[in-house]
Amino acid sequence: MQAHALGATAIISRPKEAILKVAQIEEAETAKEEDAAPPAVETDEGVAVFASMFSNVRHGRPLKLVDAQRATSKIISRVGKDGLSTWLDEVRRYHEGTFQHCLLVTGVAVAFGLDVGFSGGDVSRLGIAATLHDIGKARIPLSILDKPGRLDPEEEEIIRRHPAIGYDLLKGVSGISPETLDGVRHHHEYLDGSGYPDGLSGSQISDLVRLLTISDIFAALVEARPYKPPMARQDAYQILCGMEGKLEGALLRAFRKVALAA
Ligand SMILES: [Fe+2]
Ligand SMILES: [Fe+2]
Repeated sequence: MQAHALGATAIISRPKEAILKVAQIEEAETAKEEDAAPPAVETDEGVAVFASMFSNVRHGRPLKLVDAQRATSKIISRVGKDGLSTWLDEVRRYHEGTFQHCLLVTGVAVAFGLDVGFSGGDVSRLGIAATLHDIGKARIPLSILDKPGRLDPEEEEIIRRHPAIGYDLLKGVSGISPETLDGVRHHHEYLDGSGYPDGLSGSQISDLVRLLTISDIFAALVEARPYKPPMARQDAYQILCGMEGKLEGALLRAFRKVALAA
């Protein structure tokens, strides 16, 4: 189960150069994963860049912003060309854990940004924030990240550190934008002040973060995990609508089209 938490380990059997490189880096985890390895498939280049970026951070190597930018621009062009449904199906089928989650959130956020008419620059900024939003989880033990049942309070407290860990990892990276840092640190904040880590409320939460938070929750609900089948998109959208007050109502209504698009 632990070996599933970082999707990078779930794609290493694929015959692409970049992925083989990840395979070498992740040797130890590969051994655990071998039995459950998915069938070999053609892998999107954005996915491969994403995999090596997560692997680097997990192994204490510096994060290269250019990797996040490359992965994000590949995802933007894929979602723009083939639509969100294709991307969701593809990513859910072949990748698991935090890695799958970030790929899904990026696809959803980009589709949302495009749909509400964000400029190209804003879609990029939103996409990069989504790509990196849970990067702090690369420093959280896999045993907690991929625990199938309910987390105990101590584990809960550890997992709630991931936005601040991600922020600390990224704040010194040259070229990182304030919007990305904002998204990474604040994607678990709610408009009513009940979120974390800073307990922000209302106007303290930027539009980019509001879009990212909706995309994050939706992606978490529709993702496939070893212990959970993906929730239908209509059901996930209903749950989001029940969170109005924490999430912006007007944005939730705008999100309907993205959430339910065929
Ligand atoms: Fe998160
Ligand atoms: Fe997330």
